[in-house]
Amino acid sequence: MSTRPITTTDAGIPAPSDEHSQSVGPNGPLLLQDHYLIQKMAHFNRERVPERVVHAKGGGAHGILQITEDVSQFTKAGLFQKGKETPLFLRFSSVAGELGSPDTQRDPRGFAIKFYTEEGNYDIVGNNTPIFFIRDPQKFSDFIHSQKRRADTNLRDHNMQWDFWTLSPETAHQVTFLMTDRGTPASWRHVHGFGSHTFLWYNAAGEKFWIKYHFKTDQGIKNFTDAEAGAVIAQDADYHIRDLHTAIKNGDHPSWTVNVQVMPFEDAADYRFNPFDLTKVWPHSDYPEITIGKFVLNRNPDNYFAEVEQSSFEPANLVPGIGPSPDKMLQGRLFSYPDAHRYRIGANYLQLPINRPLSPVHSYNKDGQMAFVNPSDPVYAPNTVGGPAADPALFEGENYQVSGEIIRSAYTLHREDDDYVQPRALWENVLSDTDRSHLVSNVVGHASAPEVTAEMKKRVVEYWTNIHKDLGQGVAQGLGVAG
Ligand code: NDP
Ligand code: HEM
Repeated sequence: MSTRPITTTDAGIPAPSDEHSQSVGPNGPLLLQDHYLIQKMAHFNRERVPERVVHAKGGGAHGILQITEDVSQFTKAGLFQKGKETPLFLRFSSVAGELGSPDTQRDPRGFAIKFYTEEGNYDIVGNNTPIFFIRDPQKFSDFIHSQKRRADTNLRDHNMQWDFWTLSPETAHQVTFLMTDRGTPASWRHVHGFGSHTFLWYNAAGEKFWIKYHFKTDQGIKNFTDAEAGAVIAQDADYHIRDLHTAIKNGDHPSWTVNVQVMPFEDAADYRFNPFDLTKVWPHSDYPEITIGKFVLNRNPDNYFAEVEQSSFEPANLVPGIGPSPDKMLQGRLFSYPDAHRYRIGANYLQLPINRPLSPVHSYNKDGQMAFVNPSDPVYAPNTVGGPAADPALFEGENYQVSGEIIRSAYTLHREDDDYVQPRALWENVLSDTDRSHLVSNVVGHASAPEVTAEMKKRVVEYWTNIHKDLGQGVAQGLGVAG
C-alpha cells in the first residue's frame, strides 16, 4: 500500500483527482459543482500579494545577534546587554526595481533586520549607505517616482532621475555613494549595513544619548565594476539571492560586526552638522565607532513567500531603551511602514509567523481579516477584571523637551552644514584613484543614456562641479560638455 498522503482540498477533504476535472462524459462541458477545481483556480488567482512599492526584489536569512561588550551605560535595551543572544531575520533588497528585476543593477541595497527580543520585536530598517537622498519625507514619493517608470512610456528614464537630483542638492552625498562601485555590490554578503538615522538610546537611570548603527561586513567590501554588474544581469537576474542562499547552504555563514557611534545628548544642539539630517554622517574623528557585538546569518528560509515576501519591517518597532530621534525622515517612516503592511499584507500582518514576536502579545487590538490569534476577555482597558495593564516606567528616559512654532521649513543650519562638504570629503580623502576614475565613468555612463538632453548634461556637470572641480571636469570631459 502506498505511504503517500492523499491530496486534499484546503478544507482537508480527500481530493477525487489530481488530473481530471469533473465533466459530462469524457468530452463534455465542465461542472460548476467541481469545487476542487474551482478552489484550485480561485486560489491560484490570489497567490500574489502586492509587491513592496519600493525594495520589491530581495532575499533574506535567519541569524543570531551576540552582544560582547557592556553598553548598559548607554541603553537599557535587553537585546544590547552583554552576553545576550537574540534571533533575527535580515532581508536584503534593491530599491527601484520590481519583483523580477535583476539583482546587480546600480541601486542602494536595503538592509532590514528584525530582532526577536524578549521585549517584543525591534526592527532596524536600514540600507548599505549611512545617508539618504533627501531629508524631508514630503519629497519621498516624488523621489521614488523619478527613479521608477514614466507615465507615458512605462520606461525608466535617466533624464527624469537627473532632473530630480540636480534640483535637489541634498541628494549629492548619496548620489556620490551610488555612483561609486558601492552602487553595484558583488553580493549582499559583501556590503555594510547602516541604521542611517540617528536614534535615541537611554539607560536605566534615564540618561540619554544619540546613536548611529554601523554593521561592518566581516567578508570585506567587494563590488562589481559597472561593466561586470551589467554582464551578470545578462546571465543571472537572481545572482544575489543565489549567492546568499548557496553560501548559507554550504555552511559559509556571513557575519557582520555591530558598531555604534554615540553622541552625548547635549552635543546635538551645537554639533557642527545637524545630527538629525539624514544626508550627513558623523565623521569618525568626532564620534568613533564602538564595537558592541556581532551577528551571523546561519539559516535559509524554508519558504520564500512566508518568510521573505510576508516579512514586514517597521522603524516604529522600538523596544524600551531605544526611541526615535527628531530626524524628519525617520518621523515620516514611523507612519509609512505599518500603513504599507496593512495594505500589502492585511491588518493582522503581525500575527504571521515571520512577524510575530517570540515574547507574549497582550494587546487589546482584536478581530479583522484573517485574525487567527484572538484575545480572551476583557477586551477593553481600563478594566477591573485583571486584564493586561501598561507599565509607563519602561519608557522613562524617552522624554525630552521640545518647543516651537508650527511651521514648514528647512532644518536649522549648523555651523558646517552644506550639501557638498561631506561628498567632497569622500572624494578628496577617502576614495582611491581607481574609485575616483570609476565614479566619473559611472556618472558619464549613466548620464549618456539617449534620453538625457544636452541641457540636462550641463546641469549634471554643474552638480558634480559643486562637489569638486576635478570631478566636474572629469564628468564634463566624458559627456563632451564645455567645462
Ligand atoms: P574616515 O576616513 O574616518 O571614514 C571614512 C569612511 O568611509 C569609513 O567608514 C570607510 O569605511 C568608508 N569608505 C571607504 N571607502 C569608501 C568608498 N569607496 N565609498 C564609501 N565609503 C567608503 O572619514 P570621516 O568619518 O571623516 O568621513 C569622511 C567621508 O567618508 C564622509 O564624508 C562620508 O562621505 C564617508 N563615510 C563616512 C562614514 C561615517 O560614518 N563617518 C561612513 C561611511 C562613509 P569602510 O571602508 O569600512 O566602508
Ligand atoms: C521599504 C517608505 C526611506 C529603507 C519601504 C516601503 C515603504 C517605504 C512604503 C515598503 C514597505 C513594505 O511594503 O514592506 C519609505 C518612506 C521613506 C523611506 C516614506 C522616507 C520618508 C527609507 C530610508 C531607508 C529605507 C531612509 C534606509 C535608511 C527601506 C528598506 C525597505 C523599505 C530596507 C525594505 C524593507 C524590507 O526588506 O521589507 N520604504 N522609505 N527607506 N525601505 Fe523605505
